[in-house]
Amino acid sequence: MKETPFIRTERLLLRPFEDADARAINEWCGSLSCTRYVFWRPHRDLAATERILAGWIRKRRNLSWALTLDGEPIGEVEIVKDLPEGGFEIGCILREKSWGRGFMKEALSSVLAYMKGIGKLFCYAETDERNVSSRRLLERLGFSLTGEEKGRYIAKKDETINVIIYRKTL
Ligand SMILES: CC(C)(COP(=O)(O)OP(=O)(O)OC[C@H]1O[C@@H](n2cnc3c(N)ncnc32)[C@H](O)[C@@H]1OP(=O)(O)O)[C@@H](O)C(=O)NCCC(=O)NCCS
Repeated sequence: MKETPFIRTERLLLRPFEDADARAINEWCGSLSCTRYVFWRPHRDLAATERILAGWIRKRRNLSWALTLDGEPIGEVEIVKDLPEGGFEIGCILREKSWGRGFMKEALSSVLAYMKGIGKLFCYAETDERNVSSRRLLERLGFSLTGEEKGRYIAKKDETINVIIYRKTL
Protein backbone atom coordinates (compact mmCIF):
# COMPACT_ATOMS: atom_id res chain seq x y z
CA MET A 1 0.00 0.00 0.00
CA LYS A 2 1.34 3.42 -0.95
CA GLU A 3 0.65 6.68 0.87
CA THR A 4 0.23 9.66 -1.44
CA PRO A 5 2.02 12.68 0.05
CA PHE A 6 0.66 16.25 0.05
CA ILE A 7 2.53 18.48 -2.42
CA ARG A 8 2.09 22.25 -2.55
CA THR A 9 2.82 24.09 -5.81
CA GLU A 10 2.58 27.79 -6.58
CA ARG A 11 -1.21 27.71 -7.07
CA LEU A 12 -2.30 24.17 -6.25
CA LEU A 13 -2.41 21.70 -3.41
CA LEU A 14 -1.92 18.10 -4.58
CA ARG A 15 -3.46 15.69 -2.10
CA PRO A 16 -4.76 12.10 -1.87
CA PHE A 17 -8.29 11.47 -3.16
CA GLU A 18 -11.26 11.42 -0.78
CA ASP A 19 -14.74 9.84 -1.11
CA ALA A 20 -16.26 13.33 -1.40
CA ASP A 21 -14.32 13.98 -4.65
CA ALA A 22 -16.58 11.82 -6.86
CA ARG A 23 -18.69 14.66 -8.27
CA ALA A 24 -15.60 16.69 -9.19
CA ILE A 25 -13.83 13.69 -10.74
CA ASN A 26 -16.91 12.94 -12.81
CA GLU A 27 -16.53 16.38 -14.39
CA TRP A 28 -13.39 15.14 -16.21
CA CYS A 29 -13.75 11.33 -16.17
CA GLY A 30 -17.30 11.63 -17.48
CA SER A 31 -16.50 14.21 -20.14
CA LEU A 32 -16.21 13.27 -23.82
CA SER A 33 -13.71 16.03 -24.56
CA CYS A 34 -11.47 15.25 -21.57
CA THR A 35 -11.43 11.51 -22.33
CA ARG A 36 -11.24 11.79 -26.12
CA TYR A 37 -7.65 10.54 -26.33
CA VAL A 38 -7.24 8.60 -23.08
CA PHE A 39 -7.10 4.80 -23.19
CA TRP A 40 -10.41 4.19 -21.40
CA ARG A 41 -14.06 5.07 -21.88
CA PRO A 42 -15.67 8.00 -20.06
CA HIS A 43 -17.49 7.09 -16.86
CA ARG A 44 -21.14 6.44 -17.64
CA ASP A 45 -22.54 8.37 -14.65
CA LEU A 46 -21.75 9.61 -11.16
CA ALA A 47 -22.42 6.16 -9.68
CA ALA A 48 -19.66 4.72 -11.91
CA THR A 49 -17.22 7.39 -10.72
CA GLU A 50 -18.17 6.70 -7.08
CA ARG A 51 -17.53 2.97 -7.56
CA ILE A 52 -14.18 3.53 -9.28
CA LEU A 53 -13.06 6.13 -6.72
CA ALA A 54 -13.92 3.79 -3.84
CA GLY A 55 -11.64 1.19 -5.47
CA TRP A 56 -8.77 3.70 -5.82
CA ILE A 57 -9.04 4.72 -2.18
CA ARG A 58 -9.39 1.15 -0.88
CA LYS A 59 -6.52 -0.34 -2.88
CA ARG A 60 -4.06 2.56 -2.82
CA ARG A 61 -2.23 0.61 -5.46
CA ASN A 62 -0.36 3.60 -6.91
CA LEU A 63 0.41 7.14 -5.97
CA SER A 64 -2.33 9.43 -7.31
CA TRP A 65 -3.04 13.04 -6.54
CA ALA A 66 -6.13 15.22 -6.72
CA LEU A 67 -5.05 18.64 -7.99
CA THR A 68 -6.97 21.18 -5.92
CA LEU A 69 -7.37 24.88 -6.58
CA ASP A 70 -8.74 26.87 -3.64
CA GLY A 71 -9.93 23.58 -2.14
CA GLU A 72 -11.70 22.39 -5.28
CA PRO A 73 -10.46 19.32 -7.23
CA ILE A 74 -9.72 20.25 -10.87
CA GLY A 75 -7.80 17.21 -12.12
CA GLU A 76 -5.46 14.38 -11.29
CA VAL A 77 -1.96 13.01 -11.70
CA GLU A 78 -1.32 9.29 -11.35
CA ILE A 79 1.74 7.09 -11.27
CA VAL A 80 0.28 4.50 -13.63
CA LYS A 81 2.92 1.92 -12.78
CA ASP A 82 6.45 1.43 -11.56
CA LEU A 83 8.95 0.31 -14.19
CA PRO A 84 12.26 -1.55 -13.86
CA GLU A 85 15.51 0.37 -13.35
CA GLY A 86 14.02 3.29 -11.41
CA GLY A 87 11.34 4.27 -13.88
CA PHE A 88 7.63 4.98 -13.61
CA GLU A 89 4.81 5.77 -16.00
CA ILE A 90 2.75 8.90 -15.48
CA GLY A 91 -0.81 9.86 -16.46
CA CYS A 92 -2.82 13.04 -15.99
CA ILE A 93 -6.14 14.67 -16.76
CA LEU A 94 -7.66 18.07 -16.04
CA ARG A 95 -11.24 19.39 -16.21
CA GLU A 96 -11.82 21.25 -19.45
CA LYS A 97 -12.54 24.68 -17.96
CA SER A 98 -9.05 24.74 -16.40
CA TRP A 99 -7.13 23.87 -19.58
CA GLY A 100 -4.52 26.22 -20.97
CA ARG A 101 -3.59 28.00 -17.74
CA GLY A 102 -0.39 26.09 -16.98
CA PHE A 103 -1.94 24.03 -14.18
CA MET A 104 -0.82 20.63 -15.41
CA LYS A 105 2.68 21.81 -16.20
CA GLU A 106 2.90 23.20 -12.66
CA ALA A 107 1.53 20.00 -11.10
CA LEU A 108 3.69 17.61 -13.13
CA SER A 109 6.89 19.60 -12.49
CA SER A 110 6.29 19.23 -8.76
CA VAL A 111 5.40 15.54 -8.99
CA LEU A 112 8.53 14.85 -11.07
CA ALA A 113 10.65 16.71 -8.48
CA TYR A 114 9.03 14.66 -5.71
CA MET A 115 9.67 11.37 -7.57
CA LYS A 116 13.28 12.34 -8.15
CA GLY A 117 13.55 13.09 -4.43
CA ILE A 118 12.47 9.55 -3.55
CA GLY A 119 15.13 8.12 -5.86
CA LYS A 120 13.34 7.58 -9.16
CA LEU A 121 15.49 7.92 -12.27
CA PHE A 122 13.18 8.37 -15.24
CA CYS A 123 9.58 9.05 -16.20
CA TYR A 124 7.78 7.38 -19.10
CA ALA A 125 4.57 8.58 -20.77
CA GLU A 126 2.41 7.37 -23.63
CA THR A 127 -0.09 9.39 -25.57
CA ASP A 128 -2.35 9.16 -28.58
CA GLU A 129 -0.55 10.62 -31.58
CA ARG A 130 -3.47 13.05 -32.11
CA ASN A 131 -3.34 14.40 -28.53
CA VAL A 132 -1.64 17.73 -29.24
CA SER A 133 -2.23 19.15 -25.73
CA SER A 134 -0.62 16.18 -24.05
CA ARG A 135 2.31 16.12 -26.48
CA ARG A 136 2.98 19.85 -26.01
CA LEU A 137 2.73 19.52 -22.25
CA LEU A 138 5.28 16.71 -22.17
CA GLU A 139 7.62 18.48 -24.57
CA ARG A 140 7.48 21.70 -22.50
CA LEU A 141 8.40 19.64 -19.45
CA GLY A 142 11.53 18.38 -21.20
CA PHE A 143 10.33 14.92 -22.26
CA SER A 144 11.90 13.45 -25.40
CA LEU A 145 10.06 11.47 -28.01
CA THR A 146 11.59 8.00 -27.90
CA GLY A 147 9.28 5.90 -30.01
CA GLU A 148 6.03 5.30 -31.76
CA GLU A 149 3.76 2.28 -31.80
CA LYS A 150 1.56 2.25 -34.84
CA GLY A 151 -1.80 0.53 -34.70
CA ARG A 152 -2.13 -0.37 -31.01
CA TYR A 153 -5.51 -1.87 -30.19
CA ILE A 154 -7.11 -0.15 -27.17
CA ALA A 155 -9.46 -2.83 -25.88
CA LYS A 156 -11.38 -0.57 -23.47
CA LYS A 157 -12.34 1.66 -26.41
CA ASP A 158 -12.38 -0.93 -29.17
CA GLU A 159 -10.21 1.45 -31.17
CA THR A 160 -6.85 1.19 -32.93
CA ILE A 161 -4.53 4.19 -32.56
CA ASN A 162 -0.94 5.29 -33.01
CA VAL A 163 0.82 5.75 -29.66
CA ILE A 164 3.69 8.15 -29.10
CA ILE A 165 6.18 7.31 -26.36
CA TYR A 166 8.02 9.92 -24.30
CA ARG A 167 10.71 9.69 -21.67
CA LYS A 168 12.43 12.10 -19.33
CA THR A 169 15.51 11.46 -17.23
CA LEU A 170 15.03 13.00 -13.78
C1 LIG B 1 -3.21 17.42 -21.55
C2 LIG B 1 -3.71 18.34 -20.43
C3 LIG B 1 -3.54 17.63 -19.09
C4 LIG B 1 -2.90 19.65 -20.46
O1 LIG B 1 -3.22 20.40 -19.29
P1 LIG B 1 -3.10 22.00 -19.26
O2 LIG B 1 -3.10 22.43 -17.84
O3 LIG B 1 -4.13 22.58 -20.16
O4 LIG B 1 -1.66 22.22 -19.88
P2 LIG B 1 -0.76 23.49 -19.57
O5 LIG B 1 -1.64 24.71 -19.57
O6 LIG B 1 0.05 23.21 -18.35
O7 LIG B 1 0.16 23.55 -20.85
C5 LIG B 1 1.48 23.04 -20.90
C6 LIG B 1 2.13 23.47 -22.20
O8 LIG B 1 1.48 22.82 -23.30
C7 LIG B 1 0.93 23.80 -24.20
N1 LIG B 1 -0.40 23.35 -24.61
C8 LIG B 1 -1.38 22.81 -23.82
N2 LIG B 1 -2.47 22.52 -24.56
C9 LIG B 1 -2.16 22.87 -25.84
C10 LIG B 1 -2.86 22.80 -27.06
N3 LIG B 1 -4.12 22.31 -27.14
N4 LIG B 1 -2.23 23.23 -28.19
C11 LIG B 1 -0.96 23.73 -28.14
N5 LIG B 1 -0.24 23.81 -26.98
C12 LIG B 1 -0.84 23.40 -25.86
C13 LIG B 1 0.81 25.07 -23.40
O9 LIG B 1 0.89 26.21 -24.23
C14 LIG B 1 2.00 24.97 -22.45
O10 LIG B 1 3.20 25.38 -23.07
P3 LIG B 1 3.90 26.76 -22.61
O11 LIG B 1 4.30 26.57 -21.17
O12 LIG B 1 5.04 26.88 -23.53
O13 LIG B 1 2.85 27.81 -22.79
C15 LIG B 1 -5.23 18.71 -20.65
O14 LIG B 1 -5.38 19.24 -21.92
C16 LIG B 1 -6.13 17.52 -20.48
O15 LIG B 1 -6.55 17.18 -19.37
N6 LIG B 1 -6.49 16.85 -21.60
C17 LIG B 1 -7.40 15.73 -21.55
C18 LIG B 1 -6.78 14.50 -20.88
C19 LIG B 1 -5.53 14.04 -21.56
O16 LIG B 1 -5.46 14.01 -22.76
N7 LIG B 1 -4.55 13.67 -20.75
C20 LIG B 1 -3.28 13.20 -21.21
C21 LIG B 1 -3.34 11.76 -21.45
S1 LIG B 1 -1.78 11.12 -21.94
